[in-house]
Amino acid sequence: MQSETAICKPRHVSIIMDGNGRWAQERGLERVQGHLRGVESVRAVTEESVRQGIEYLSLYAFSTENWGRPKEEVTYLMSLMFKSIMNEMDNFMRNGVRFLALGDKGSLPGVLQESIAAAEKATSANKTLTFILFLSYSGKWDILNAAKHLAKAATESGNPDEYLSKIEEKDFSGFLITAGIPDPDLIIRTSGEQRISNYLLWQGAYSEFYFPEVQWPDFREEEYKKALKVFASRDRRYGKVK
Ligand code: IPE
Ligand code: IPE
Ligand code: MG
Repeated sequence: MQSETAICKPRHVSIIMDGNGRWAQERGLERVQGHLRGVESVRAVTEESVRQGIEYLSLYAFSTENWGRPKEEVTYLMSLMFKSIMNEMDNFMRNGVRFLALGDKGSLPGVLQESIAAAEKATSANKTLTFILFLSYSGKWDILNAAKHLAKAATESGNPDEYLSKIEEKDFSGFLITAGIPDPDLIIRTSGEQRISNYLLWQGAYSEFYFPEVQWPDFREEEYKKALKVFASRDRRYGKVK
């Protein structure tokens, strides 16, 4: 059960980085140029999170559904993520950032899987900010996976009925890919779209939402500060009466 006390600073900020393609098209550029510029916004938001003392920053970088995009765009995104992870390593170490990637990692190209494993290992002792990239992730995939793991654990317990009768919400959370990570307090989606697009369906149950019009490549320090200010003005009631 979460506290109903108003907390001005979010512990976990999550961002659905949207609008890269439109940013590029509005400028007569190829869609992939928007993805490239979007990496600079990732850096800006990460550094500002460190300055603000935010504990968790998570970014929706590639959804399960995004595999359905044209092959060239998917290939470009995979290669851009590989390069960006390698490039950011020095920054992560300097800023005390722990890097994690969550999702169906087995579906990613081998070199990307290797760079993720290396970055996770190298940054595992960093404590200032946990930076999470959701890759080949979807909320339904996560919940279905958790249900499968739970069914397996119930079977292996030898007494499934008794095992399942004791499972509470917090236990189910422990089967999700985000086990041990606090639920997002604030979910930002750029580009003016106001939908969840199969993101953190369970974990976002009580998140505050913020939908700036700006496209992701234009979401920088000032936009982020504005989002944090809006969050601070929200009244979180968790279904109760104040
Ligand atoms: C977000 O920008 C990046 C990913 C989903 C990988 P988009 O590529 O969705 O950009 P728009 O929404 O088409 O403008
Ligand atoms: C959501 O954006 C996924 C990511 C940002 C990774 P999309 O652009 O894929 O979502 P839809 O298609 O507009 O719902
Ligand atoms: Mg989009």
